[in-house]
Amino acid sequence: MRKPLIAANWKMYKTSQQAEEFVKAFLPLIANQQRDEIVLCPSATSLSTVIAAVKDSGVAVGAQNMHYAEEGAFTGEISPLMLKAVGVTHVIIGHSERRQYFGETDEMVNQKILSAVKNKLTPIICIGETLEEREADKTKEVLLRQCQIAFKAVVPEDAESFIVAYEPVWAIGTGRTATPEMAGLAHFHIRSQIARLLGRKAADSIRILYGGSVKPDNASALSNQPEIDGALVGGASLDPVSFSKIVDY
Ligand code: PGA
Repeated sequence: MRKPLIAANWKMYKTSQQAEEFVKAFLPLIANQQRDEIVLCPSATSLSTVIAAVKDSGVAVGAQNMHYAEEGAFTGEISPLMLKAVGVTHVIIGHSERRQYFGETDEMVNQKILSAVKNKLTPIICIGETLEEREADKTKEVLLRQCQIAFKAVVPEDAESFIVAYEPVWAIGTGRTATPEMAGLAHFHIRSQIARLLGRKAADSIRILYGGSVKPDNASALSNQPEIDGALVGGASLDPVSFSKIVDY
């Protein structure tokens, strides 16, 4: 049985003070929930504050990105060693905004995944097709390419703890969600491809989250799909009440 996981991607929102206020309001709201694993991914400047604020609550903290090198002359970048040192356990890799605005390629995503494994960080690997690709009937092909390159040289046993987030680019921040059936089909395809690439055991262990305009009112229909193991939530994770409703759906 895969434990559902709900992750908050705060993107470039919240100062560290605002992040701390969120955690103070959020923890009491989810104090009694047992079902989900929860990961908060604030911006880099708030990581330490959020890690201190969630101490002993069972909530984990992830970064939104990292460089694959452990150190070096890469001005402005943050390394896996630095993330580990402050207590980060998860890292989002290959979010479509990183691919779209910061030139991240499938090959870079692969290097980052290998580096996360080496440094014992759990990657949350984002994949998904653009609207153009979906309309050209290329969704399956794109998801296959993204998985093939992302998982190059990955050892199947290492992959068992991976988290994949299927985020159709056209559904991110647009209010347009994939229907549960559409998402369920894409998840089924992704899991089948992972089974081909890494074996059945890894494919059955990896949690595949859905992301793209997840809100309290659509979270439960999405989660009822057998292949959907949770959600990666942007906009609706910024407010503690709305995010707690997604956790508690
Ligand atoms: P959204 O973002 O929930 O605001 O659509 C999801 C994401 O980008 O991870």
